[in-house]
Amino acid sequence: MEIKASNTPKLEWTGDALIIGLFEDAIELTGDMAKLDVMLAGTLSELIEETEFKGKANSTASSRVGGTTPIRKIMIVGLGKSEELKLETLRQTAATCGRLAKKERCKTLGISLPICQDADSTAIAITEGIELALYQDNRFKSELENPGPDVEKVELIGLAASDEAIASAQQICSGVILARELVAAPANSCTPITMAKTAEALAKEFDLTLEILEKEDCEKLGMGAFLGVAQGSDLPPKFIHITYKPESTPRRKLAIVGKGLTFDSGGLNLKTSGSGIEMMKIDMGGAGTTFGALKAIAQLKPDVEVHFISAVTENMVSGHAIHPGDFVTASNGKTIEVNNTDAEGRLTLADALVFAEKLEVDAIVDLATLTGACIVALGNDIAGLWSSNDDLAAELTAAAKKAGEKVWRMPLEEKYFEGLKATHADMKNTGPRPGGAITAALFLKQFVKNTPWAHLDVAGPVWIDVENGYNNPGATGYGVRTLVNWILS
Ligand code: BES
Ligand code: MN
Ligand code: ZN
Repeated sequence: MEIKASNTPKLEWTGDALIIGLFEDAIELTGDMAKLDVMLAGTLSELIEETEFKGKANSTASSRVGGTTPIRKIMIVGLGKSEELKLETLRQTAATCGRLAKKERCKTLGISLPICQDADSTAIAITEGIELALYQDNRFKSELENPGPDVEKVELIGLAASDEAIASAQQICSGVILARELVAAPANSCTPITMAKTAEALAKEFDLTLEILEKEDCEKLGMGAFLGVAQGSDLPPKFIHITYKPESTPRRKLAIVGKGLTFDSGGLNLKTSGSGIEMMKIDMGGAGTTFGALKAIAQLKPDVEVHFISAVTENMVSGHAIHPGDFVTASNGKTIEVNNTDAEGRLTLADALVFAEKLEVDAIVDLATLTGACIVALGNDIAGLWSSNDDLAAELTAAAKKAGEKVWRMPLEEKYFEGLKATHADMKNTGPRPGGAITAALFLKQFVKNTPWAHLDVAGPVWIDVENGYNNPGATGYGVRTLVNWILS
C-alpha cells in the first residue's frame, strides 16, 4: 500500500473514495465542505441528514456519488469531541476509514483528517491505523478471507507531513506484523527451530550480529533453569541473541528480553482442559514482540545499541521432563525448587536476564506472557509494568502512552517474596495464588543485580478474541510500538 501526504485541495482530489473526518461539535457544512456539497449536488448534506450522522467517534456513513464527479464515493467518519482529539483517536479513525474503504471496494483513497500535535505525528498515527487495520493474515487459509480489491493508494489530504515520517510508520508496522505472525502461528509451525531461522533471516536481511546458543552452549554457561524447562521437549532449545549496533558511537546500550515458549503445556503440572491450553502458542508473545521491535529498529537505525534476546523452547510432558519438585541451578548460581512446572516462563527468563546483564547494558526490559494472574488483575487490554527504577518506569509509561498501548505500573512488594521461600533451595519458582503476577516479577528480580530493569507482563494484550479498534481479532503485535518509542526516546 502506498501512503503519501498531499496538498491537493479536497475539491480537486480524484479517486475512488474521499473520506472526511467530522467532529461531533462541528458537523455543519461550512467553507470548503459547503463547496464540496455543492459540487456533489447536495449528496453530502443528504448523507448527514439521512443517516442522522452526529460525528460520534468511529461512526461512518458513505454514499455513491453520481454523474461525472472526480470521486466515486463520499464517506464521512466521526471524530468525537474536538477537545478530546488525541493521536489514538486518529489511529482508530484511520483504521475505521481503511476498513470501510476495503468493504466498499475502493482502491484509491483520499483521507482528510484534522491535525493533532504536528503533521508528522498525525501522519504516523494515520499510517499505523490504516496499515494495521488492513493487514490480513491469510498464511494458513486455503482461500483468501476477504478477496476483492485491496486499498492500493492512500493520500493524506491537506497534511504537510514528510515522506520520512510515513516511511518510518510503515517500518514500525512491518515489525508489528512480524510479531503478530509469530504469535498467530501455531506451535506445530512456530517452534524453537523456526524461531532461530526467523532470527537468522532477520540478521541476514538487516546485517545484524546473530548469536544462537545451542543446548551444549547453554550447559557451558550453566543455564540450568532454562534447560530444566527445555528438557521435556523433543525439540532442541535455542537461545537467541541478536545485536543491532549503530554506525556511530551508541548513545545508550539497551537489552530487550522476550519470553519464548513456543508452546506451554504446563509440563508435568499439565494444564487442564478449560485452562486455555489450546491457546498456549501465544506463550512466545514476548519473543514475538522482541523480534518485531528488532525488525523496526533495524530499519529505523537509531543511534542506540540494542540487544534482542530470547531463550526459546517448549514446555512439554515426557519421560525426560523436569519433575515437579526438582531443583535447578540458574546461570547466576542461584538454586530454584521447581514446585510448579507451569511457572516455566520465569525459569527461562532467569537465565536470559543473567545473560543480558553480562552485556553491561544501561537498561534491560523483559516482556513475557508470564501469568494468568496479571490478566485477572488488569484484564486483557492492559500490560502490567514492574520496575525498581522510577526513571525507567516513567520512560516506558511515556513510550506506551505515545503508542496508544496500555500499561499499568504494579508494585514490587518485597514482603511477598516470602511466598517464594524454599526449605532446601534458594527459592521456589511459584508462590501462593494471591498476588501471583507480583511474586512472578519478584522472582525475575533475583536475576538482575544492578542494571535498571523493567518487566512487562503481556499475557493479556498479545491476543484479542474480538475485534477492538484498529486491531483485528487474533494476535495484536502488542508492545512493538512501545519498545520502539522507548528505544528512540
Ligand atoms: N504462560 C502462562 C501464563 C499465561 C496464562 C499466558 C494465560 C497467557 C494466558 C504461564 O506460564 C503460566 O502457566 N502461569 C501460571 C503460573 C502459576 C503456575 C504460578 C498461571 O498463570 O497460572
Ligand atoms: Mn506455564
Ligand atoms: Zn508460560
